Amino acid sequence: MAVLVTSASLVAQPWFGFSTGIETVQLLVPDGEAAKTPEVLSGLVEAIAEHGLSRHDVIVAVGGGAITDLAGFAAAVYLRGVAFVQVPTSLVGQVDAAIGGKTAVNLKAGKNLMGAFHQPIGVLCDTELLATLPAREQGSGLGEVVKCWLLEGRQAADLNTTTLMDLVVMSVALKARIVSADEFESGERAFLNYGHTLAHAIEKLALARDVDEVRHGEAVAIGLAFAVRLAKKLGRVDDAAVQNVDDALRALALPSVLPGDYETNALLDAMTHDKKAHHDLTFVLPGQNGFAVVNNIDATIVREALEEFRSKS
Ligand SMILES: NC(=O)c1ccc[n+]([C@@H]2O[C@H](COP(=O)([O-])OP(=O)(O)OC[C@H]3O[C@@H](n4cnc5c(N)ncnc54)[C@H](O)[C@@H]3O)[C@@H](O)[C@H]2O)c1
Repeated sequence: MAVLVTSASLVAQPWFGFSTGIETVQLLVPDGEAAKTPEVLSGLVEAIAEHGLSRHDVIVAVGGGAITDLAGFAAAVYLRGVAFVQVPTSLVGQVDAAIGGKTAVNLKAGKNLMGAFHQPIGVLCDTELLATLPAREQGSGLGEVVKCWLLEGRQAADLNTTTLMDLVVMSVALKARIVSADEFESGERAFLNYGHTLAHAIEKLALARDVDEVRHGEAVAIGLAFAVRLAKKLGRVDDAAVQNVDDALRALALPSVLPGDYETNALLDAMTHDKKAHHDLTFVLPGQNGFAVVNNIDATIVREALEEFRSKS
C-alpha cells in the first residue's frame, strides 16, 4: 500500500488526481512551513502506523519543499525507515528540496534542526504542475536555479534562450551529480550553499519580524550578488564575474540589492553563527580554479564588503 501525504489546497488544484496504481491512503497535512513541526510529524507518523504501513509499503509526498521535507522525515523514522517517493509540486521542490535525501522539520530554536538523511526511491517532476504556483513561489525557486546556473559556469546571456523546463533539468542534473558524489556534505555538496551564508542571515533577521518578508530564493539571490563581490574583494574573480551574476539575476527578475533595514552588525553576527559555519565567517566563493569553501574570512573584510554592497543599492 501507499500513504500519500499532501495538503488540502493541493488536492483542490486542477492537476491533482493521479493514481499510485496500488491501494492508497491519503493523509492531509497543513500547507507550507506549518507542516514542518515536530507536532505535525508525530501526528503523521501516528496516522501512518494506524493505517498499518509496513516495510514493504511506500510513502508518497505530493507538495512543495515543506511537505517533501516532512514526509521524507516521517519515512526516515517510521519503522526506522521505509521507502518513499517524492512528487515535488513547487519549483523549489523540483530543483532542490526533493533531491538529495535531506529531510527535516523545524524546532523553535531554528529551521531544519531535527532531520535525517534518507534517500527517496524516486523523484517525479512534472513542470506542468508549476502553472498554478503563485508568482512569488516561482521566484523563490528561481533563486536556487540561478545558483545552479552560476555553479555550472554558465553565462547570463544564454538565459534568454533557455526554457523553464531546461532550467529544471539543468538544476536537477547538477544537484543529482553533486549529491551522488558527496551524499553527506563532506566535500563538493557544500558548493550548493553558494549564496547561502548571507541568505541565511537575511532570513534569520527577517523571520524575527515577518515570516513573509523574504522568500528563501530571494535571499539566495541577494546572497549570490554579495558572495561574488566578496570574491572580487579577495582577488578571486574580476569585474566580469560580478557583472555575470548581476545580469543573471536581472534576467530572472530576482533581487540583487540588500534592503536597508538589515543592519551590518546583526548580519555579521548571524553569518558567524550560521549552522554550516564553525563559528567563523565561511562562504562558498568562485575563483580562477572554480568554487571553494573559504573559511575564516577576516570579519573586517566582510564588513567592508557588506557596506560597499549596501551602497550599491
Ligand atoms: N531538503 C532539502 O534539501 C531542501 C532544499 C531546499 C528547501 N528545502 C525546504 O523546502 C521548503 C520550501 O519549499 P517551497 O518553496 O516549495 O515552499 P512550500 O512547500 O512552503 O510551498 C509554498 C506554497 O506553494 C504551494 N504550492 C506548492 N506547489 C504548488 C502548485 N503546484 N500550485 C499551487 N500552489 C503550490 C504550497 O501549498 C505552499 O503554500 C522549506 O521548508 C525549505 O527548508 C529543503
